[in-house]
Amino acid sequence: MASPSLTLAIVLPTLDERDNLAPLIARIADALGPDGWEAIVVDDASPDGTAEEARRLARADPRVRGIERIGRRGLASAAIEGICATAAPFVAVMDADHQHDPALLPAMLDAVQHGACDVAVASRFVAGASLEGLPTARREKGSRLANHLARRIAGIELTDPMSGYFLMETARARALVPRLSGIGFKILLDLLASAPAPLRVKEFPLQFGERRSGTSKLDRAIAFDFLVGLYDKSFGRVVPTRFALFGTVGGLGVLVHLAVLTLLYRALGTAFLPAQAAATFAAMTFNFWLNNWLTYRDRRLTGMVAFLRGWAAFCATCAVGAVANVAVAGLLKQQGLYWLLAAGAGIVVGAVWNYALSSRFVWRR
Ligand code: GDD
Ligand code: MN
Repeated sequence: MASPSLTLAIVLPTLDERDNLAPLIARIADALGPDGWEAIVVDDASPDGTAEEARRLARADPRVRGIERIGRRGLASAAIEGICATAAPFVAVMDADHQHDPALLPAMLDAVQHGACDVAVASRFVAGASLEGLPTARREKGSRLANHLARRIAGIELTDPMSGYFLMETARARALVPRLSGIGFKILLDLLASAPAPLRVKEFPLQFGERRSGTSKLDRAIAFDFLVGLYDKSFGRVVPTRFALFGTVGGLGVLVHLAVLTLLYRALGTAFLPAQAAATFAAMTFNFWLNNWLTYRDRRLTGMVAFLRGWAAFCATCAVGAVANVAVAGLLKQQGLYWLLAAGAGIVVGAVWNYALSSRFVWRR
């Protein structure tokens, strides 16, 4: 009894989607038929036991596979991991919360398989699509912005480059993986922007549904993701994107420092040393919070304990960075360097130090 060979892998990144899995596999089987496909659940050790549920399903159904990643986070990197784990010649990535309709899969596969396009994208904005719950004005505005920026980043006309539902040849995706920026901005956009020659895209109207159970894990900082992507593809090779973000946050932290210092020392009459100490503390806390929210949003520390631990580690890192800063500046000044240049050199050394240590010890992968 020869079963048709494995053609399509559906990668399902999950974070707390336990109750969505079994019904989703059933819907995929409805759409694709009994064989020729596999579903790969890539779970980041969800507290709700999604990985165990995936293993349970896999024992009962050889078309289901589960990857559990421990101590790692991130939708984009989970998608990449799934893409690299399959032997199927075609691969799709879709959300596991039923917002992406598996009924589109056969048409998307057909289009890629028969060369109508390189990448099939399920779009929430192309004619015929629907997006429950978003007012038309906002949707159109978002769409226009998306379009514009996608053209800038990927050189491609696309209505929904933020879509997390697409299908392409596995070998093509795998070949692009080493070129991906990997800082957590949207995987499809990253793939499109990383291709040496523009990929041919075909869009499929998606009826973007309500998530079936659980809650969304992504913030919808869509415009921000675009800006990061834009920067990364334009200047990322000169000054790494994450370091640029870290430095920008640091610059804002200086403003916070000066504001707090002015308030305490000038307005409230606090003595200089305690005012300076309080300002330093406020700036460090602000920097930690903003870096956690922006710079490391793909590795964001959530939950009281992880957050507090990260904050303490960040303060410790900054303290060491400050010592390095002062030492270098002092040394250069002593060597006769102009005081402003010496201070600038100290700041750069301190920033690089803080960056290296905090990405290693505070927001480690
Ligand atoms: N492994 C893993 N790790 N999976 C994750 C992570 C993570 O860190 N974060 C989210 N997921 C999974 C969720 O379990 C879900 O299956 C899918 O990724 C999408 O996450 P949601 O939390 O449902 O995101 P959304 O509905 O807000 O986002 C939608 O809109 C985006 C466009 O703005 C999705 O369609 C995204 O794919 C899309 O890019
Ligand atoms: Mn969702």
